[in-house]
Amino acid sequence: MRSPHIQRSICPEPGDFHSDVSLAPSWISTAMLENMRFPYELPALPYALDELSPFISENTLRFHHGRHHQAYIDALNQAIDDTEFEAMPLRALIRATAAKTGHAAVFNNAAQAWNHAFYWDSLRPPGGGEPPPVLRQMIEASFGSVAACKEALTDAAVTQFGTGWAWLVLEDGRIRVMKTGEADNPLTRAAIPLLAIDVWEHAYYLDYQNRRKDHVAGVVDHLLNWDFAASHLA
Ligand SMILES: [Fe+2]
Repeated sequence: MRSPHIQRSICPEPGDFHSDVSLAPSWISTAMLENMRFPYELPALPYALDELSPFISENTLRFHHGRHHQAYIDALNQAIDDTEFEAMPLRALIRATAAKTGHAAVFNNAAQAWNHAFYWDSLRPPGGGEPPPVLRQMIEASFGSVAACKEALTDAAVTQFGTGWAWLVLEDGRIRVMKTGEADNPLTRAAIPLLAIDVWEHAYYLDYQNRRKDHVAGVVDHLLNWDFAASHLA
């Protein structure tokens, strides 16, 4: 099943998309989710289930998107039902509940709902390769080379202890690599997220078992959507 049919059904007006995300169909899961309000629905994948294979299998993507991401959406709806968070935009909701006593369930599920949409957009078939010129220049200024940036991102993803995420972000005018635990993400800091890599075991265990490093290598070398990352620099 291709996503455009679902995209149109959930987002009736293209102008409703978030202003800092391109309308290109390969990276709109985040925009779809951010334009929703309670009750949230699972945003469509920007590619077919089998298009990330062999680096991420159809089976992994079906469970990861259809079960895990759906579960975060469902739990978010349950957590904010009949609360002041119903009408709040998702990014604002995440920032408002981060590290706030009594709001852990709302934050964890809101953040995971957003993290996964951002992660789907961070991948594309075929991905990898070289970043667009503007992003490449910023990466070279920050890391010395694209290869060094990829190495730092890979290291963050491989070394994140337990569940969590590796991120490429723009912070203080420089491209940086960040890793966060569990549901935490760069939106809780003064950083603009550019790319996400999910290193929860459910992201790779069906395909790679405990070999997270092999999974991350496949993602970084073959699936990263550098155009999506560059779209956040404007
Ligand atoms: Fe995940």
